[in-house]
This record gives sequence, structure tokens and C-alpha cells, in this order.
Amino acid sequence: MNITALFSIKGGVGRTLLAAHLAESLTRRGLRVLVLELDPQNTLGHWFGMDPEIRFGLCRLQSNARELAQYGQRHATNVAFVPYGGESMRDLLYMENTVSGRSDWLANRLKALEAENYDLVILDVAAGTGPMTRAAIHHANLVINVLQANSACYSTLPLFMQLQSELSLHNVVHVVNRYNGRNELQREIYKHLESQLGHTLLGAAVSEDTTADAALASQQTLFQHHPQSPILRSIELLASQVASGLVPNNQADPQPVAQH
Ligand SMILES: Nc1ncnc2c1ncn2[C@@H]1O[C@H](COP(=O)(O)OP(=O)(O)O)[C@@H](O)[C@H]1O
Ligand SMILES: [Mg+2]
Repeated sequence: MNITALFSIKGGVGRTLLAAHLAESLTRRGLRVLVLELDPQNTLGHWFGMDPEIRFGLCRLQSNARELAQYGQRHATNVAFVPYGGESMRDLLYMENTVSGRSDWLANRLKALEAENYDLVILDVAAGTGPMTRAAIHHANLVINVLQANSACYSTLPLFMQLQSELSLHNVVHVVNRYNGRNELQREIYKHLESQLGHTLLGAAVSEDTTADAALASQQTLFQHHPQSPILRSIELLASQVASGLVPNNQADPQPVAQH
């Protein structure tokens, strides 16, 4: 199964934006993509116009798994998505306990969602190094570490490297989001990232674009709300790189992602 995880140690860096748009870009290319949110922030559904009052998702995933996986396909983007969900604190605690007590919870949920029928599963994981996130990146055959060109993100690199070696993550790439090339400090930090990460830093940094928040507020992806957004150009490149590493879903290990 092809599984790509959008990861970061620091929160708020754009994992969900990238997960949603990567999923839409690849779906537009005719791939069957399922995107799962493993993060109680519950932002994924907003991009796809999901009613914020509806709280279903992975938290409560039981017999209605298939229906859930197909929920998104009723949406204009045709992306299959499953948000985190959770109606109450009890649901959230239930999920946390399930995850910390059972190492096979993710595999079980993927099975319930019939994830093997998709060309690609994108996991939008919670920031940090918690048990759910570790399980997700351990399962993934491509981990995209999302960074911003600031010192807060730069300072997470040693911890990321530790995690990478502890979990033996082989296929890792880094992407810089919200990049503003006119900002001297960002340019400087970007250079440091390049020298530290080498070819694993993807060439297409994703620009800062204020229309992202306007799109999110109107519960539309940028493909619908602002198709000229520079974010989408980088997303298309990222999507091509992800697509080039995919294997037919009856084979095991995908090839490494093609570099720029
Ligand atoms: N490239 C970007 N340009 C402008 N705003 C962005 C960009 N990427 C993300 N954002 C905004 O930043 C906020 C956090 O993004 P989100 O995807 O929810 O982060 P995370 O999932 O990492 O917590 C959202 O309001 C989102 O619209
Ligand atoms: Mg998020």
C-alpha cells in the first residue's frame, strides 16, 4: 500500500493544507486517493466543505467505515477523505487509549476503510512525536516533513533526525511551506536548510499566500477558490514527485521519490 505521511514536529506549519491539496491534485490526475486526518485539530474537513457540526471521523470509525471513506466523494473535489472526528472529550480519550494500547490500530482502520483499493493513502498526522504520529510515520513509505523557513522549525531538525533513525525511516523528504523569498531572514534560513538537508529538501518551496486563509474560511480548496494561487504551482510539483514514487497497489516497496 502506498502511504505518504505529512509530518512536522512543530504545529501549524501547513500539513493539512498540503495534505488536502496534494490529495486533490493527485485525484485530478485520475488517481484514487484517500486522505486521513490523524489529528484532533479536525481541520481537514473544512477544506472540503464539511459541515463543522458533523463530527464523525476516524475517532468513531466502526461499521460505517466505507460510508465514511466515500463521504468526501460526494464533494465537488471527488477526494475521499476521513477527518479525525470526535463528538466529545470521551471520543477523543477513547481514541488516545486505543492508539496507545494497540500497535495494530492503524492497520485495522486502514483495513476497515478498504484502503488497499486506493492508489495512495495520505496521512495528515498530528505534530510532535506522540504514539499516533509515530505509528503513522512508521507505517508510511514516504514521510514529508513540513517546515517553515524560520528558526523555530530549523531548531526541530535534530529531534527529527533522532526520530528518523529510531524509527528507521528510509524515505524522507522535507518541504518548506509559507516561503517568502523577499524576506532576508527566510532566505538565510532556507540556505541553512539546503546545506543541512541536501537533496532531501524538495526544490519547490511553497509560497506564502494570503488567499489560503480566505479559501479555508469559505470552505473551499484553492483549486476552486483561487486557482491562480502560487501555492498550487508548488503543489503540482510536489504531487508529481509523490506520483513518480508510487507503485501499483499490489506491489510492496515503492521507489524513492524522484529528486528535483
Ligand atoms: N502557504 C501558505 N500560505 C498562507 N497560509 C498558509 C499556507 N499554508 C498554510 N497556511 C495557513 O496556516 C494555517 C495552518 O495551516 P494548517 O494546514 O492547518 O497547519 P497544520 O496542519 O500543520 O497545523 C491555516 O490557516 C492555513 O490556511
Ligand atoms: Mg492540521
